[in-house]
Amino acid sequence: MQDLAWWQHSVVYEIYPRSFQDSNGDGIGDLKGILTRLDYLVRLGIDAVWISPIYPSPMADFGYDVADYCGIDPIFGTMEDFDLLLAELHRRGLRMILDFVPNHTSDQHPWFLESRSSRHNPKRDWYLWRDESNNWPSHFGGSGWELDATTNQYYYHAFLKQQPDLNWRNPDVKAAMFDALRFWLRKGVDGFRVDVMWLMIKDDQFRDNPPNPGYQLGQPSHHRLLPIYNADRPEIHDLVAEMRAVLDEFPDRVLIGEIYLPIEKLMTYYGRDMRGAHLPFNFQLLQCAWNAESVAQVISDYQGALPAGAWPNWVLGNHDKPRIASRIGASQARVAAMLLLTLPGTLTLYYGEELGMTDVPIAPEQVQDPAEKNEPGLGQGRDPERTPMPWDDSPSAGFTSGTPWLPLGDNAASNVAAIEHAPRSILTLYRRLIDLRRIHPTLVRGKLQSVIAENDVLRYERVELGTRILVLLNMNRKPVRVTLHSGTVLASTSLDREGQKLSGTIDMEAAEGLILSLDL
Ligand code: NOJ
Repeated sequence: MQDLAWWQHSVVYEIYPRSFQDSNGDGIGDLKGILTRLDYLVRLGIDAVWISPIYPSPMADFGYDVADYCGIDPIFGTMEDFDLLLAELHRRGLRMILDFVPNHTSDQHPWFLESRSSRHNPKRDWYLWRDESNNWPSHFGGSGWELDATTNQYYYHAFLKQQPDLNWRNPDVKAAMFDALRFWLRKGVDGFRVDVMWLMIKDDQFRDNPPNPGYQLGQPSHHRLLPIYNADRPEIHDLVAEMRAVLDEFPDRVLIGEIYLPIEKLMTYYGRDMRGAHLPFNFQLLQCAWNAESVAQVISDYQGALPAGAWPNWVLGNHDKPRIASRIGASQARVAAMLLLTLPGTLTLYYGEELGMTDVPIAPEQVQDPAEKNEPGLGQGRDPERTPMPWDDSPSAGFTSGTPWLPLGDNAASNVAAIEHAPRSILTLYRRLIDLRRIHPTLVRGKLQSVIAENDVLRYERVELGTRILVLLNMNRKPVRVTLHSGTVLASTSLDREGQKLSGTIDMEAAEGLILSLDL
C-alpha cells in the first residue's frame, strides 16, 4: 500500500483518556495508563490512536473546555508523559492524532478572562460579544447567550456557558490558534481531529434562526430551530483551507473534521481542489437504521457523493453516541465489525467496540455529563458510552486501583483477559478483520461495487485488477439462503468457515457475515 498516505490505509482507534487506563489510582485514566496498554493496541492491529482532549481544563465538558492549548492537564499527567507516549507510539509504528477544540475555549482560559474584563480589552474581540442576544440556542439546552455582569454584554456559547465561542473572524485568534497547532505538529503529532468544525464561523449579522417545522416534543431543545445562521456558513471553507495549510507546513499530517451534516453538505468539507479536511468524519453508520436496505442506501449515497480525489472514511462509534452493540445487539455487532472493516477508506472505531462493549446504565446520582445534567431524561447523556475499559474480571476491571469515575459495566465475562485468546471472540474477530486489510489491500483501496440489499442480506464487492472480494452480511435474525458464483471464505463472523469453498446456493446463519475471495 506504498502508494497511499499512512492515514489512507489506517484503522483509527479513539481513546477516551479518562476511561482507558488509570495509572495512579485516582479513578481517572491518564497518559501513563495508555502507555502501559500500547502492546494491546499493537496486538489489535490498529494504526493510529485519536486521543480525546488532554489539555489543561476545568473539565466542565471533560476536556472539551480547554484552558491552555499547549499543555497537559495534571489529571492526565505531564508533558514528559506526553512526549514519552508519543515516542513509544512511534517506536511501535503507531500514529497519534490529537483532538483540537477550536470553536470555543474554557471560560477559565486566560484569553477569555482578559476578554471579559472590559469592553476595551485588546482581547475583547476574540470572543463573540453583543449588546443583545438572538435566538441561537446552546447544544446543551437553553440560550446560547450569557449576560456577563462585568461589562453588561452577552457572549455566545454553542455549548456550555463555561465554553465561550471564539471569534474566528479575528486574525489574532487565527494566528494564536494556528500556533497552538504548530506547537504539537513540531513535537511530531501526526494530525488532528477538529471538534465541531462546521460550527466555527457564525453569521456576521447574527440573524435569528428560523423555526424547525420538523421539531417534535421530547427532542433536545436546540432542535426547535434550523441552524441556518450559526452553523455551516459559507466562510467556513476558507478557514478550513487555512487550517489545512498549517498542517501542510509539516510532512505527512492528517486533518479530520467532526461534522454532523447531511452527505451533500459533508462533502463540501473536502474543500475546493481537496484543500480542506483530508477526512470529514462520515457518521452515516451511527445514524442509519440497522437493516440491509438502509445500510446499502447510505453506502451508495455516500460513495456516490464523493467528489473526485476525495478519500472515503467510515466511523462506527465515538464518545458522543450510544455504543453500536447496545444499538443493534451482540450478534449484529459482529456484523457491524465486518461491515466497517470491509468498507473503503479510513476507518475509525471507539475503544471497547472490539470487546462488544455496551452502554452502561447510569443512575441519576452517578451522572457526570453536563448534557444530561442540563436536559435530563431526553437521552442526551453520554456517560453510558464513556465507562471504563474492562481489562480483566477484577472488581475495578484492571482499569484502576481506586474508584472509577464512572461505573463499570458487567465485566465478568467480557473483558480483554477473558476473550483475547478465545478463538471465536469478538476481539479475535476484530483482530482477524484488521489483519485481513493488510493481507488484502483490495479491502482498503479496491473499488466498491454491486452494493445490493436482498432479503435483509447486504452484499457488495471490493474489486481490483485480478481480485474480487465478496462481502455478504446477514442483517436478519433468521437464517437465509443466498447464491453466489464460487469462491473461498477469507473470514466469517463466527470465525469457523475460513478456507471453505462455496458456490451456488449457500445457507447463512442468522447474523452471519462472510468475506469471500471470488474465483475469477
Ligand atoms: C463535540 C465533542 O465530541 C463533544 O464531546 C463535546 O461536548 C462538544 N463537541 C463540545 O466541544
